[in-house]
Amino acid sequence: MSSLFSNLDDKKKFALLGLAGVSVVAVGTYAYLQRSKEKRETSATHQEDDWEKPFNLSVDQMKQMIKDFQSEMDKGLQSTTSSSMKMLTSFTSKPTGKEKGSYYALDLGGTNFRVIKLELQGNKVIGASVKQQYTISQEAMRGTAEQLFGFIADCINNFISTEKPSSSKFVLGFTFSFPVNQTKISSGTLISWTKGFTTKGVEGNDVVKLLNNEFQKRRISAEVAALANDTVGTMVARCYEDDTCEMGLILGTGTNACYSEKVSNIKKLLGGFNKDNMIINMEWGAFGDGTNFLPLTKADKQLDQFSLNPGKQLFEKMISGMYLGEIVRQILLDLVDRNRLSKGFSSSELLKKAYCFETSFITLTENDNSSELTEVQKLLEERLAIVSTVKERQLLKHICHVVSQRAARLSAAAVVAVLSKINRLQKVTVAVDGGVFEHLPGFREEMERFMKLLAPSSSIQLVLQKDGSGNGAAIIAATTQN
Ligand code: BGC
Repeated sequence: MSSLFSNLDDKKKFALLGLAGVSVVAVGTYAYLQRSKEKRETSATHQEDDWEKPFNLSVDQMKQMIKDFQSEMDKGLQSTTSSSMKMLTSFTSKPTGKEKGSYYALDLGGTNFRVIKLELQGNKVIGASVKQQYTISQEAMRGTAEQLFGFIADCINNFISTEKPSSSKFVLGFTFSFPVNQTKISSGTLISWTKGFTTKGVEGNDVVKLLNNEFQKRRISAEVAALANDTVGTMVARCYEDDTCEMGLILGTGTNACYSEKVSNIKKLLGGFNKDNMIINMEWGAFGDGTNFLPLTKADKQLDQFSLNPGKQLFEKMISGMYLGEIVRQILLDLVDRNRLSKGFSSSELLKKAYCFETSFITLTENDNSSELTEVQKLLEERLAIVSTVKERQLLKHICHVVSQRAARLSAAAVVAVLSKINRLQKVTVAVDGGVFEHLPGFREEMERFMKLLAPSSSIQLVLQKDGSGNGAAIIAATTQN
């Protein structure tokens, strides 16, 4: 992940380095340790440290956020420009579970790309699947459309050379996990890249056309029958076997959600759609952009300022795996700045490198239950050249916990906002995928706890829908074949 940011321009790098270029004295550490000792001794009247307070989101704050969130949803359904959330039309609705046959999918969402062949049994059962994963090179992520889509077409060629398709032309669904304007199910124009992609010549263009061009060059006889966001794929994959699913949610490198909306509520809808409900790709990662709805902390603001897309995807930057580790690093830099950490931290050159504290380090840190946090000690020494004290490691563990719990609370509030808006808080399933949800210790539990605090009578089931994004695209392709 850190390499994603190695091409920040020099001005930004310089500013980043400047952030951490502060000397540290032992007095600061002592003052901090003294405070945490007091904190433990007065746990009944627990005093938060100053960095921590803005991270501990209250139920009241989240209730206000739900109101703002719902009003942005409304605005986004009215017009294409008036809300921070794009509320994109997918021209897809829930499958019946009767779709049958062998379908293919391409899944492009982050640094990995997957090709999938899926067997649908037609009785709400997903049968056998074959999957192949490929790594997208930095050149393809940062290069030209021809490089990126050419790479995808090459992967398919490779896949079908080992997997003979049953007919000469094969039907596939294309999961493209970025904001796309769709006016029909089988095409869409990329609005803007997210998650570190900057491939030129794609924004403003139809991604299915770009892919078809590369197919033609290679004489691949494939029909892209459906284009889908990963949230939509994840939801559809669950819906195939579960009628209670109303929402799809990704908590991974990026974050976003989709849900089933009454077509009569989608005032901005252009072109017809012959079903009563359509799945809306909310693009909730952009919630709050250009507004003051979000309780941004100093760390969030620093992260945003030096990101590849300042001012954009602010909600995503508080929640998703691409950014959580960097938030922790920003807090550490601030503590170094204010002489709260010892020389081990302040003298680490590696800590000054943006995104060096990966989100996987949060998982490792939170999972270390040894009294001296020896795994964390090893991690700090080996990956960041930081010699630390036990107390500092305890503080780091606490920071990781607070950052991860805040992300869980924000996610919980957004789920409650969506489900209460459509009046489906009871006996409802949300299909979820992504490493943040799957791997961050206590994340799911905090989400569940907070959803109950926000909507006490709700019964929302969060289910992990592994590989849903790709499987769902194959199912959507099947729905187009009658
Ligand atoms: C993209 C969404 C996607 C989400 C999760 C965001 O950055 O804008 O389209 O669904 O990441 O992958």
